[in-house]
Amino acid sequence: MPFSSYMAWVLHDPEHGAYGAGRLRIGPGGDFATAPSLGPAFAELLAPQLADWLEGLARAVPTGPLALVEAGPGEGQLALDLAGALAQRWPGLTERLELVLVEPNPGMASRQRQRLAACPLPVRWSSFEQLAERPVRGVVLAHEVLDALAVERFEHHQGHWCRQRVRLAGGGLELLASEPLSPVELEALADLGLAEPGAGRPEGWCSELHSGLGPWMAGCGSALASGWLLVIDYALEAWRYYAPARSAGTLMAYRGQRAQADPLLDPGAWDLTAHLCTDSLERAALGAGWQPLGQCRQGEALLALGLAQALHGLSTADEGLALAERLARREALLRLVDPAALGDFRWLAYGRDLPAERDSQSAPPLFLREPPLS
Ligand SMILES: C[S@@+](CC[C@H](N)C(=O)[O-])C[C@H]1O[C@@H](n2cnc3c(N)ncnc32)[C@H](O)[C@@H]1O
Repeated sequence: MPFSSYMAWVLHDPEHGAYGAGRLRIGPGGDFATAPSLGPAFAELLAPQLADWLEGLARAVPTGPLALVEAGPGEGQLALDLAGALAQRWPGLTERLELVLVEPNPGMASRQRQRLAACPLPVRWSSFEQLAERPVRGVVLAHEVLDALAVERFEHHQGHWCRQRVRLAGGGLELLASEPLSPVELEALADLGLAEPGAGRPEGWCSELHSGLGPWMAGCGSALASGWLLVIDYALEAWRYYAPARSAGTLMAYRGQRAQADPLLDPGAWDLTAHLCTDSLERAALGAGWQPLGQCRQGEALLALGLAQALHGLSTADEGLALAERLARREALLRLVDPAALGDFRWLAYGRDLPAERDSQSAPPLFLREPPLS
């Protein structure tokens, strides 16, 4: 089967898939940690950005519901922490706000239901297709979910860009180069700087193509009548992603706080992810009618949203927190901006039918402001 079918299967099969069966656990004590699983600081810093966007919509359309949609909510922790921060600091706004979770895997959705039992906002689970019947106004958040979309894997094989397939061999699995990519896929590769077959890469050089991004962006767009999409994920520009030296792509498997690069090992037991390519993402977004509003690294985004002030607050005497708790919170904040890890994540914003007061020229997203100097 094509690698993309294999990846979709091992992640989403309801009985054997890593997410489909709800087997993976997210957090420092689980299979892998994400920023929201390190504590509430991530949601507390992100909340002002979401509130700013939602308030812009609330001013433009003074009545009717607003939605915070999270795609791929994992354990539901980010949704819960965001709902708590928004309800506490923007009570007027949250009177109109509902939380909508888009989660295709029943095993994960049932854990999210338990986690969100005490959520201060109304919550519902839906799909982009269901939302498209009555599109919402609001913000869609995609935190570490697009790296779980199935990718096509291809390699330079005898002067062609060929699809990699997974096949059974001797009781195990193996990858092999098969037919050349389709004309549509070759056109996408040409846009990414790989126009000629091989393009100077050695025989066997392989990488990934994000064929699922276009349909995802279109589905997400049809769910939103007006508002913003914020993608937060591992991402590289095409020239970095497809650099000759990156000869085996970006696929990684995670389980039990370990990372390894063999996607065929113990299928369904590991999380499989591929970095995003910012150029592919932009192409997919434009093709689906989204307006790109800008991007930056997570470290810069969180500084612009007040991370330095949060760190400073932990060092003042009147905080009322025990020293050990302060040190733990300080470490969690620093991990979010570590340039060698989470700080290198990208934040990419897109708009769709935005209120007139908020065009990208006059009011960039808060996280793209310069961090305050004082
Ligand atoms: C790595 S977890 C991210 C969890 C959470 N956003 C966080 O940061 O802690 C990926 C989540 O996306 C879900 N997922 C995978 N593919 C998806 C898709 N196509 N649409 C929506 N959710 C998806 C998985 O089931 C899982 O809940």
